[in-house]
Amino acid sequence: MAKRTLAILNDSGKLSGGTTVLVRVDFNIPIEQGIEVIASYDQRLRATLPTIRYLLERNCKVVLCSHLGRPGGKVLEELRLGPAGDRLATLLGRPVKNLRDCVGPEVEREVASAAAGDVLLLENLRFHPGEEANDAEFAQALARPAGCFVMDAFAVAHRSHASTVGLPPLLPSAMGMLLEREVTALGQTLNIDDGSKPLAALMGGAKVSDKILILENLLDKLDHLFIGGGMSVTFLHALGKATGASSVETGRLDFAWELMERAAKANIQVHLPRDLVVADRFDADAPQVKTVAADAVPGGWYIMDVGEATAHDFSQHLARCKTIIWNGPMGVFEMPRFSQGTRTVANAIAGLPDVTTVVGGGSTAEAVEELGLMDRMTHVSTGGGASLEFMEGKELPGIAALPDE
Ligand code: 3PG
Repeated sequence: MAKRTLAILNDSGKLSGGTTVLVRVDFNIPIEQGIEVIASYDQRLRATLPTIRYLLERNCKVVLCSHLGRPGGKVLEELRLGPAGDRLATLLGRPVKNLRDCVGPEVEREVASAAAGDVLLLENLRFHPGEEANDAEFAQALARPAGCFVMDAFAVAHRSHASTVGLPPLLPSAMGMLLEREVTALGQTLNIDDGSKPLAALMGGAKVSDKILILENLLDKLDHLFIGGGMSVTFLHALGKATGASSVETGRLDFAWELMERAAKANIQVHLPRDLVVADRFDADAPQVKTVAADAVPGGWYIMDVGEATAHDFSQHLARCKTIIWNGPMGVFEMPRFSQGTRTVANAIAGLPDVTTVVGGGSTAEAVEELGLMDRMTHVSTGGGASLEFMEGKELPGIAALPDE
């Protein structure tokens, strides 16, 4: 059943001027990269602008709440949300008031004295243990100053926390525009029709374990499966190739083997790296780096990226697909010397006309953002774990908790 949207909430008269709307956003940005370069990783902030603007156009008082990092129920100065609020103010072109807490009499006073059209950002929800414990009293304290609740934090919708599942029963609620976009775009990948084929999954990232359920869920619909990144090590090992000192998930070798067998029977083409960039140390400054054939990884060396020939092959095959689901970098993207495979493939798919490209969040979205290709993909999810769970076909608690249309 479809969930109630912001437009429906508006049509029901709940957003009349001056209404205080509590909006759950996900401003969990990689703040450790430094606030001076916040503009280079503000995708999650930008993605909330449509909802905030929609509410401001209706003269609502907008109270945003989010978590940042994992402070474990304690106040950590380095995890205050102020820098995110300041960046949001720049993006919105109007002031955002950063509060020092998210619940309590002082917060209630600040909200009450704000005017219609003001934007306030509550302090990190996870400074309170009640958030992650989904504590009923904490949810009530959050709800107290608000007239409505809007859930726009897709990236944390897979968590059953007070602000995701505790709030909807307490206030007239709806999904925000970011959440609606995510559900529509990622939902397409679950309902592939003939017009969306050939369908390719481009899988990378560190571990096979993270991708098992999504692969299980997608496999029957796929025409092509491309495997790069750290997870390709286990597949290559399953095929009997030497993988040097790279870590093999020995508990997943059977899965890798069975998946390749199932794919072969179903006529799905599985593409594995044919050349690899290897280093003598797992280090951004490794003394020795070279490209070798996929069956010639030297003993004691580490697989760091797919090679140029592989990236070229993958790009050529991907160009013949109609829908591409991409989840996980092709190599150790965060180390510049090992980012080329991801760069080549990202640039190749970004330039494809008439192709639907759905990019999972987390490290894949960060790579696309860093390469400046966000606008050239059909959809880049704001959710890491949440987008994986959604594409695994799971119902996310933060969406399930919202009222139906
Ligand atoms: C994310 O970045 O994936 C979300 O903000 C969820 O964060 P969490 O994994 O700390 O719950």
